[in-house]
Amino acid sequence: MSYPNMRLRRLRKSPVIRDFVAETMLTPNDFVWPLFICDQPNARIPIESMPGVFQLSIDNALIEIGKAMELGVRSVILFGVPEEKDQEGTMAWADHGIIQRAIRQIKSHFGDDLLVIADTCLCEYMSHGHCGIVMDGQVLNDPSVELIARTAVSQANAGADIVAPSDMMDGRVMIIRDCLDDAGFDNTPIMAYSAKYASSFYAPFRDAALSAPSFGDRRSYQMDPRNAREALEEVAHDMEEGADIIMVKPAMAYQDIIRSVREVIDIPLAAYSVSGEYSMIKAAAQNGWIDEKNVTLETLTGIKRAGADMILTYHAVEAAKWLGEA
Ligand code: PBG
Repeated sequence: MSYPNMRLRRLRKSPVIRDFVAETMLTPNDFVWPLFICDQPNARIPIESMPGVFQLSIDNALIEIGKAMELGVRSVILFGVPEEKDQEGTMAWADHGIIQRAIRQIKSHFGDDLLVIADTCLCEYMSHGHCGIVMDGQVLNDPSVELIARTAVSQANAGADIVAPSDMMDGRVMIIRDCLDDAGFDNTPIMAYSAKYASSFYAPFRDAALSAPSFGDRRSYQMDPRNAREALEEVAHDMEEGADIIMVKPAMAYQDIIRSVREVIDIPLAAYSVSGEYSMIKAAAQNGWIDEKNVTLETLTGIKRAGADMILTYHAVEAAKWLGEA
């Protein structure tokens, strides 16, 4: 059937009929809220390049998480901003590290009502800011994986519900799975940053987490933005090695990757809408150039429509509030 018998505008006539036929539903349950936890008492330090985002002390994080949960946000991912850094990322896996302490306190406060995901990486804890052990200017793979796995076990031991390796070393999912199982955490899922691109959209995050590499860049371990088939290869390996949830990152400029990964996997797919994506919307909104609420919700809807089941986003709390008002 075609025009004039067929008229697609019939189903766009009113809000109620548009809601009736809507294909994509965004809810606060889709969001994972990233938090930067710092090791100073009573801190709430604004990140200049990310308006509305703060480095929080654990006590302030508890307050903010409580408010977020009232709006329907049910999961967080934690990044540490440690006081001490060294060449081995010691504070990434230390039992008294900032993230281990944060996980303990957050879990004892909110229990099973909140999903606490630990970002498993070394870069925030390394004096050189790379995601692994550096020798002669190279980021080594296998020795780094050992430390990353040790970090994952310490996070699980502190009570993390999920560990999320973001380093992009080869074989990390396999070694993490083995080490978690050996330590008795065979029920702790791994959310793997499987297709993580070497992206310039991470710049504001590196201000927030103080994790910019002091030399070079991350292109010898994170993916080349020109490659799409390689993402499927990364995903296949991570699944083979035991990933429970796959992640694509960034989101906005990589929706083709989200879609093509969605088409080949049946396990959950997460997309990380990264710091630069957030900052661009905030900056344009502050200039009055775009409507912040509508653009934010449209962007998140687009990521979900592309195929993501869950979205890591700094907009989580505001978006949850807006969805609640709708
Ligand atoms: C750590 C890590 C990064 C992000 C998440 N985990 C930074 C990086 O790889 O340089 C970026 C998140 C964002 O930009 O919001 N490896």
